[in-house]
Amino acid sequence: MSTASQAGKTVAILGNGTVGVALAKGFAELGYRVIFGTREVEGAKTRAALEAVPGARAASFAEASAAASIAVLAVPWSGMEAVIFTAGPDNLAGKLVIDPSNPLDFSGEVPTMALGANDSAGELVQRLLPRSHVVKAFNIVTAAHMVHPRLPDGTPDMLMAGNDAAAKARVAELIRDFGWRAPIDVGGIVESRLLEGLAMLWVIYGFRNDHWTHAFSLLGQKR
Ligand SMILES: NC(=O)c1ccc[n+]([C@@H]2O[C@H](COP(=O)([O-])OP(=O)(O)OC[C@H]3O[C@@H](n4cnc5c(N)ncnc54)[C@H](OP(=O)(O)O)[C@@H]3O)[C@@H](O)[C@H]2O)c1
Repeated sequence: MSTASQAGKTVAILGNGTVGVALAKGFAELGYRVIFGTREVEGAKTRAALEAVPGARAASFAEASAAASIAVLAVPWSGMEAVIFTAGPDNLAGKLVIDPSNPLDFSGEVPTMALGANDSAGELVQRLLPRSHVVKAFNIVTAAHMVHPRLPDGTPDMLMAGNDAAAKARVAELIRDFGWRAPIDVGGIVESRLLEGLAMLWVIYGFRNDHWTHAFSLLGQKR
């Protein structure tokens, strides 16, 4: 197989934590080659991620990004900028970049939004990667339900935002393949402000009810 066609079904999961492993399992099930991008290729956390996702390998952020056609930014807000610069905007140019992050400030008892209403992590990522097709998605649910989100009272919907129609079409397909009821396109990357606000609502509901397995659905959708 040529390097180009290998890259086509290769995903770089930047971050080997809870979200990285959950989404990596979903991609692996769909037949993607998974490369975890990490600061510590030989670290214990990386070893655990590789054990959880058979067939995956680990590499530097830059090497993983260069080898893949899709990248997922499964890193904390505090490390986002550093990870993007280390991955290298050139390595991600022309590629789909999925951003499931939330800009949360964990300094208080309950997390709060680290950004005001006039910006978002999704927009920041798109500004840092001007030649990539950034799609905000998977940020409005717990990692445990990012793939096969079957809940006792139904299958929820996943909302996404991004500037590039083809990139969103690819993410819509992934959302369906991961088992969501419907992908809902809410507009350009600027609408990450709404999706990150919705994630905050998810967090507040979680704290108020000490319950962490909920997800959103939009009833009465246009068919
Ligand atoms: N957890 C959820 O259920 C959930 C749901 C929706 C959205 N999100 C969002 O998804 C993102 C990832 O969350 P997570 O729960 O997967 O986090 P996590 O479990 O803490 O994993 C974060 C990953 O990023 C790496 N990392 C941490 N700081 C870094 C830095 N400064 N530079 C480079 N790499 C760094 C960590 O590596 P090491 O620590 O090993 O170095 C780890 O691999 C966050 O933005 C979060 O808001 C999370």
